[in-house]
Order: sequence, then C-alpha cells, then structure tokens
Amino acid sequence: MTTALTAGSAIEELGPPGVRGICFSCDSITSMDVAEETALKAGADATWYSVGILADDQELALRCAEFCRRHGLHTLFHPLDLDICGTDPLDGRLLRALGERAAELDSPWLNIDLAMWVRRGETLLESLVPMPLVDEAVDWAVDRIKHAQDVIGRPLTIENAPYPFVVGDGDILTLMTRIAERADCLMTIDLGHLYGLRVQQGRPAVLPGDDAVAWDRVVEAHMSGTFVRRFEGGVRLVDDKHDWPVSDEVWELADTLLPRAPHLRSVMAEAEGMTAAELSDSVRRFARRASHWWGER
Ligand SMILES: [Fe+2]
Repeated sequence: MTTALTAGSAIEELGPPGVRGICFSCDSITSMDVAEETALKAGADATWYSVGILADDQELALRCAEFCRRHGLHTLFHPLDLDICGTDPLDGRLLRALGERAAELDSPWLNIDLAMWVRRGETLLESLVPMPLVDEAVDWAVDRIKHAQDVIGRPLTIENAPYPFVVGDGDILTLMTRIAERADCLMTIDLGHLYGLRVQQGRPAVLPGDDAVAWDRVVEAHMSGTFVRRFEGGVRLVDDKHDWPVSDEVWELADTLLPRAPHLRSVMAEAEGMTAAELSDSVRRFARRASHWWGER
C-alpha cells in the first residue's frame, strides 16, 4: 500500500536516512562505461546514481545495483515506460515488474515525468507527450498515480516534463502541487524543464504563485543544459539538452527555488551524451554549490 506522505517526518524517513547529495545520470542502457569512469573521477562528490531503464530489464537493474554498491552510491530509479499521463490503461504486469526493479535497486521512490510515455503499447522514450496544462489533467493523473503507487508499493515522485510544445495555459507547479497533494506522492522539480516552459509561455522564470508550491514534498531536483531559439513573430522553440552545460539562468533558478524545499535529498546533473570528464566536472560544480541549496538550514 502507498506510504502516507503528508507528514514531513514520513518524507524525511524515506530511503537511506539522512542521505542527501548530488546525483548523476548517463544513458544506463548504452553507457555504463561512462558511469564507471564518472564514479571514479567524482568520488565523494557524487552520492546518488539515477538508473533509467525499462521495467523488464532485470539484468541491467542488477548490474546497476552492483555498480552502485561497488562505488558507495545510492540508487534512484527513473523508469522509461511508466505511462503515468497516457491514455493506454495502466498495465498491471508492468507495474509489478517496476516494483521488482525498484526493490532490486533499493530505490526509495520512482521518478516519473508527468507525460505520456507509451502509446498503443509503444514506448515513446525520446518523444514524450507532456501533460496538457489544463485542470482536467489533474483528475486523470491523480487516479493513475494512486493506482501505480498501490501496485508498485513505493511512492512516486512526479516531475515536470520537458515542453517542446505547450497545450493549455495552466502553471505547471500549481498543477503539480494539486496532483501531489491529492495523490499523496512526492515531487521532483526539473529546473531546466521549468525554465524552458516558462520561457515558452512568455512568463518570468519565478512566479508569485511559486510560494504556494508543496515544497515539503520535493525530494529531487534535476538540472541540465537548455536550448532556446526565438523566431520571427515571437515563436519560441525550447527544449533541454542533457549534453550541454547548465545555463546561468537555470543555476539562478536553482539558487532561488531549491532552498524552499526542506526535504530535498538529491540534485541531479543530467548528462546523457556527455563524456565522463565533462560529467565529473559537472558533478563537482554541483557539489560546490550544494551548501547553498541545503547547508544553511
Ligand atoms: Fe529531469
């Protein structure tokens, strides 16, 4: 059954007690050699490793778990086929498999972007369809998250997806807060996605309504490079780029928002496509900034 998360102390007790620090990701399916080299180079600056795999890939889950044990890293599971906002019915067999992978990885929660991940049985991977920014999406997501948490047996942390295109004019953090409070789940703020979406919507990166976000549910944050192009007529194209360095605007957004999250446990350098040298530099840069996000509370 789902853990009741409404009390701050219940959130604090999730996962390895007291552990907080920098996480890194790379392509777990193709680039475990990059992960190995990064773990060695980053040393104690890295605390978590994010495993992005499919529900049925037990072999890779076990390999990633062994990798984390060997390097003293804690694991966070980011499934690639948990269709939390899609239109296909949720697949009970797949949900049970996700629960088994999470147990093998000993991941305290499962991170999932609010998006359609599967369409008519086909995993979309690099072509996610983000949740429409409309009130009706809240009911849809809440029911699916509750069901997924009940079958998986671990909490979900819902992430604001990338928005290369936008449907609806709601605010993502307001919608996420309503979903998280009703589904009793955790939250992940992807600062690159947030910055990109708000640019796309023609809004400031920080809004007054951000004060009302359920910051006590935020356990993860993600940061990566951001790609912004402006065309004639005011049309913008915005997306995140995991193989680019984090932009100054996204660093500033992190510095403004992350100190509001009292239970933040992991800030992830997302880095699919980077070399181990680039990724370990990025992890070290994150670690130097971590005291600002956590230290002085
Ligand atoms: Fe992310």
